[in-house]
Amino acid sequence: GGAGGVSGELVAAPIKLPLLPGRQPTTFWAYNGSVPGPLIEAYEGDTVEIAFTNRLAQPTTIHWHGMPVPAEQDGNPHDPVPPGASRHYRFTLPKGSAGTYWYHPHPHGYTGQQAYMGLAGTFIVRRRDDPLAHLPEQLLVLSDLKLDGDGSIAANSMADHHDGREGQFVLVNGALRPTLALAEGERQRWRLWNATSARILKIALPAHEVHLVGTDGGAIASPRRIEHLLLSPGERAELVVTGRFGAGQTPGLVALPYARGKAMHPEQDTVLPLMTLNRHGRRTSAPLPARLAEVPALPAPAVKRRVEFSENMADPKAMFLINGKTYDMARIDFEGKVGQVEEWEIVGNAHMDHPFHLHGTQFQVLARTEDGQWRDEPFLAWHDVVNVAAGESVRLRFRQDLPGLRMFHCHILEHEDQGMMGQLLVR
Ligand code: C2O
Ligand code: CU
Ligand code: CU
Repeated sequence: GGAGGVSGELVAAPIKLPLLPGRQPTTFWAYNGSVPGPLIEAYEGDTVEIAFTNRLAQPTTIHWHGMPVPAEQDGNPHDPVPPGASRHYRFTLPKGSAGTYWYHPHPHGYTGQQAYMGLAGTFIVRRRDDPLAHLPEQLLVLSDLKLDGDGSIAANSMADHHDGREGQFVLVNGALRPTLALAEGERQRWRLWNATSARILKIALPAHEVHLVGTDGGAIASPRRIEHLLLSPGERAELVVTGRFGAGQTPGLVALPYARGKAMHPEQDTVLPLMTLNRHGRRTSAPLPARLAEVPALPAPAVKRRVEFSENMADPKAMFLINGKTYDMARIDFEGKVGQVEEWEIVGNAHMDHPFHLHGTQFQVLARTEDGQWRDEPFLAWHDVVNVAAGESVRLRFRQDLPGLRMFHCHILEHEDQGMMGQLLVR
């Protein structure tokens, strides 16, 4: 990412990768032959040009998840790239867009399958005055893999369609329980992506010192010490991890138990180890900067809307609903205006958690309910995914700075594919 631009080529194609020793290689679908796909890095102000070719047997798109790109460049379900075809994606990253993003397919009905077959990649937008630029950076993509007995990627079961697909292997950068070196007292900046279809990961680093420094859409105002972090499907976070081994080894990066209201699969009720940390010497590190960014509160809204998530198990063709409806590409659910602040209340009138996601912009979560009482969020941050737990309501604000048709949906990809999605037309 130099002065002005980033350009490259992405090709989506099947590829065989050896996975289990002594077995047949596993067929993935990958961007440029790698799972996860190649990292794209740019600076605020850069223009990004990607020449894309679809060598899959299905239509696909590339969606630039979380990024403020024009609607017609955002790879939404209205712009499929047919098998064998190519297209060019082009967009300019505005000031203020620095953050941790990703790209993945978004053809209606096939997003889940294409993502679990391996199509997803990371995208980082940097700012030139990044106060954490001096720290060593680790990029950690959390995904999961569901394999059949023969080592091939398993199809979805009925239970996966309902609860969302969870693989039996939770991977970090495509590897099972990899190891990372960290010195006592060393500070590292970690960017984490939850690239799973449906797992809600309550991540923690027992013993070590962890500060949250950024969310989906970039830096928060100042570092915040945290004990754990709920990262729902599609969500990202930036942490500063300071090595604190004390006398011995620590559990490393883990996912703590979390119940998300699954009906057909057991809940995660044990601590799941994700990555081992190996103590590697001792280091002294400079203190964290007290200020990271300005996160100004969005002004009072011009429009308020209610978005209700619900489930209807009686109708297998429309089980997951938004405001009582299943997705219809020809229906506009809401009309908004460029530059106008909207306040949405997302109501989880459901038995399961459903992570809410909106295209084209970042939002601020203002408050959420706890036992029916509204509670203000302790600080403002830029998000494009927020978990809405069963029975919970979440209040958020955003502004769309570009016109066009934008989707909002549950980011459990099986729910999205089954129609838990709506459309906002911004004029
Ligand atoms: Cu990450 Cu509409 O998707
Ligand atoms: Cu998205
Ligand atoms: Cu859902």
